[in-house]
Amino acid sequence: MKALVIGGGGREHALAWKLAEGARVERVFVAPGNGGTAREDNKIANVPITAPEALADFAAAERIDLTVVGPEAPLAAGVVDLFRARGLAVFGPTKAAAQLESSKAFAKAFMQRHGIPTARHATFGDAVAAHAYVEKHGAPIVIKADGLAAGKGVVVAMTAAEAHAAIDDMLGANTLGVAHNADGARVVIEEFMAGEEASFIVVTDGRTVLPLATSQDHKRIGEGDAGPNTGGMGAYSPAPVVTPNVHARAMQEIVRPTLAGMAADGAPFTGFLYAGLMIDAEGRPRTVEFNCRLGDPEAQVILMRLKSDLFEVLLHAAQGTLDRIETAGGLEWDRRTALGVVMASHGYPAKPRTGDVIGGLPAEAPDLKVFHAGSTLKDGALVTSGGRVLCVTALGDNVRLAQARALGAVREIRFDGAQWRADIGHRALKA
Ligand code: AMP
Ligand code: GLY
Repeated sequence: MKALVIGGGGREHALAWKLAEGARVERVFVAPGNGGTAREDNKIANVPITAPEALADFAAAERIDLTVVGPEAPLAAGVVDLFRARGLAVFGPTKAAAQLESSKAFAKAFMQRHGIPTARHATFGDAVAAHAYVEKHGAPIVIKADGLAAGKGVVVAMTAAEAHAAIDDMLGANTLGVAHNADGARVVIEEFMAGEEASFIVVTDGRTVLPLATSQDHKRIGEGDAGPNTGGMGAYSPAPVVTPNVHARAMQEIVRPTLAGMAADGAPFTGFLYAGLMIDAEGRPRTVEFNCRLGDPEAQVILMRLKSDLFEVLLHAAQGTLDRIETAGGLEWDRRTALGVVMASHGYPAKPRTGDVIGGLPAEAPDLKVFHAGSTLKDGALVTSGGRVLCVTALGDNVRLAQARALGAVREIRFDGAQWRADIGHRALKA
C-alpha cells in the first residue's frame, strides 16, 4: 500500500512516520515534506508538489491508496473535494465542512444554531461598530480575525485599549497577516472564558466517531505562558484536566452535536475534528474553536502514543467503514505520557530567521523522536527554514520523566537563536 501525506510541518512528519509503521504500507510520500522527512531512510520520501491539481495527478499516477491531508489551508481550498471528484481515496473534510475552522464567523453561527456551548460573540466588518461593542462590554474580551491566521489571529485583550488596537489592526493594517475570507475583513468579538484548555480530537467517517487521546498545547512563546501566541510551543498527552466526566461531556455536548449538525446542514464532516476546549472550575467544557485537522504539536504527542495501525484506521475512515475499527476494539494507546518540546527559530513568532545550521540531533530511540517542521536539507546540511523548527518528543512513565527525557535531548541540539520552553507540561505537574 502507498500513502501520500500533504503538508510539510511537524504534524505531517509525525503522520508520515506513523503511517510508515503500517503493516501493509510499503511507501509514504510527503508533499512537500521537510528536512526531517527527507532524512527518514525507511519508506518515506518527499515529493516537491503543493498545487492541488498536481497532487491529484501524482496520486493517480502513483496509484496512491490513501491521501491524508495535514494542514488547514489545502482543506479550506477544497483539495478533498478535488480528490473525491477524481475518485481518489482521501482522508479529510470537504471545503464546506472545513469552514468550521476556516471561518470563525461560520463556526460561531453554527454553534449558536445547534446549541453547542461556546463563548457569546458578535461579528463585525465595520470598525466603528466593533469599537462600540468593546465599549459596551469592557475587558477582558477576545478579538479574533475571521480567516486563517496560523493560530496567531487572536488577541485576548485584558484591557479595552488592547481590544481597540486589535480591531484597528485586524480590520486595517493587518500586521498579523491574516488570510481574510473572500467577503472581506471581519472580526469576531467574544466573551472571555476562564478555565483550563485542552485539545480534544476525534477521527470520524461522518458516522462512527473515535476519540483520540487527549492533549494540551502551550500557545505562548514564553515560559509561564507569557508573551505572544504562537502555533504551539509544546504539548503533552494525556491531559489530566480531561477527566472521565469532562470527556463524556465533551463527546455528548460538543462533538456529537457538531457532527450531527454538520450532517443536518448538508456538510457532513469526515476527517480529524479538533475541538479546542475551555474547561471551567466546575468541569464544564466549552468550545474555544474548531480545527478541521490534527493539531500541531498535538499530533506529535498523540501519534507517539498510538499503538493501532494508523493507515488501516484512516483508510477505513476514508471509506466510511470506521465502525470496523470500533468493533475490532477501537484505538489502542501506550499508557505512558508523551511530551513534545518545540524548538523555534530566532525571532519567532514575529520574524523567524532561517538558514541556521542544526547540529547535535540525538540518536533516536523507542522513547524519543525528533519531528521536524521548519528544517530543510541544503547542500547536505540540515538548516532552519521556518518558525517552529523541531518538536522533540519523548515517552515517560509520568509527565516529569517524559519532560526530562525530551529536555535532555533538546539541550544537546544546537542552532543559533533556538528558543524553547523548559516548562511544557507545567499544568499537569502542578496538579
Ligand atoms: P483560537 O485561535 O480561537 O484557538 O484562540 C487562540 C487562543 O486564544 C486560545 O487557545 C485561547 O487560549 C485564547 N482564547 C480564544 N478565545 C478565547 C475566549 N473566548 N476566552 C478566553 N480565551 C480565549
Ligand atoms: N496547536 C494548535 C493548533 O494546531 O491549532
